[in-house]
Amino acid sequence: MAIASSPTPNASTHSSRKPAVLVTGGAGYIGAHAVLALEAAGYQTVILDNLEYGHQDLAKRHLKAELVVGDTTDRPLLDRLFSTYNFAAVMHFAAYIAVGESVSEPAKYYRNNVYGTLNLLEAMVAAGVKRLVFSSTCAIYGPPKTVPIPEDHPQNPISPYATSKLMVEKMLLDFQSAYGLQSVCFRYFNAAGADPQGRLGEDHSPETHLIPLVLFTALGKRESVSIFGSDYETRDGTCIRDYIHVSDLADAHVKGLEYLLEGGETSFFNLGNGSGFTVKEVIETARRVTGREIVAVPCDRRPGDPPSLVGTSERAQQVLNWQPQYPDLENIITHAWQWHQQRHGDRT
Ligand SMILES: NC(=O)c1ccc[n+]([C@@H]2O[C@H](COP(=O)([O-])OP(=O)(O)OC[C@H]3O[C@@H](n4cnc5c(N)ncnc54)[C@H](O)[C@@H]3O)[C@@H](O)[C@H]2O)c1
Repeated sequence: MAIASSPTPNASTHSSRKPAVLVTGGAGYIGAHAVLALEAAGYQTVILDNLEYGHQDLAKRHLKAELVVGDTTDRPLLDRLFSTYNFAAVMHFAAYIAVGESVSEPAKYYRNNVYGTLNLLEAMVAAGVKRLVFSSTCAIYGPPKTVPIPEDHPQNPISPYATSKLMVEKMLLDFQSAYGLQSVCFRYFNAAGADPQGRLGEDHSPETHLIPLVLFTALGKRESVSIFGSDYETRDGTCIRDYIHVSDLADAHVKGLEYLLEGGETSFFNLGNGSGFTVKEVIETARRVTGREIVAVPCDRRPGDPPSLVGTSERAQQVLNWQPQYPDLENIITHAWQWHQQRHGDRT
């Protein structure tokens, strides 16, 4: 791995130079959108990504950031990065994200998501870098007792993936007390959509998220999409989820970073839309946006799926002055559709 002597100069129109930020997992879906937002705001960025799930082609084409190919579990590499660059903060997206896989292979998740993060935090403390924005998840709450879910809702994760994220949140509290490392933990609901200008979008493999699966069906890459449970006590019997546009998530990350740079202390924020949409509403909206037939097959409920998962994001709105710009499902699906058509060469 070669590390250049300074971050690539940013060609942003902002004249004042802003500090450098290390973005782990910045070649992945949400991380790359965050890099785009950081660059638009004038920050210098360096990406650390092992490219296991990231996309080098997208990072190279659309981001100015230097891409360092490497792993958060590699402490010598982290030390070299921190001594080469004068990072003011780290945004930490790098993690494994497949909930089902985490149940069958928990060790893999604890090693990457917990040990990888511990390694990163130790390197940060050693280098004197004391600000971190962390990707947590609403899954730390487990089955909701109240909806919409506030940040002080009881925490009862039901998968090793969610437990790994909660363990990091606990570590971050201890690192604040002992070492003065301040962090912003964002508990995302369902990230969805794509860069409105079509530069970046969602490309997970395997894909497990509803909106891309629905759009793959519209593209003819899948025969149908499954509806897991049609007899929930919701307005149309299908599960309700809170979808947040990935560009709104990215914008919140810039605001979270600025909160820390201005002296803000460790804090936890939900990031969601505040309004939920049912599985049937997602499929109907996708039919309208794409103009395609999308075959949906009713199936049994999946164990552990709560009827409704919707968060309140008022805290982020009040403390960070953040407002989602694309709360509308139609916008989210339209941007995702433009992205998938382009990414998968749809010409019909
Ligand atoms: N997608 C969602 O809806 C969602 C919801 C809640 C939380 N999150 C969290 O947001 C973060 C980003 O998710 P995403 O959807 O962009 O996933 P992603 O898989 O697209 O991105 C993760 C990136 O991290 C990289 N990576 C993984 N482990 C690494 C390691 N040890 N060292 C270096 N790079 C590594 C991968 O190659 C990938 O590019 C994750 O931490 C995830 O847990 C995502």
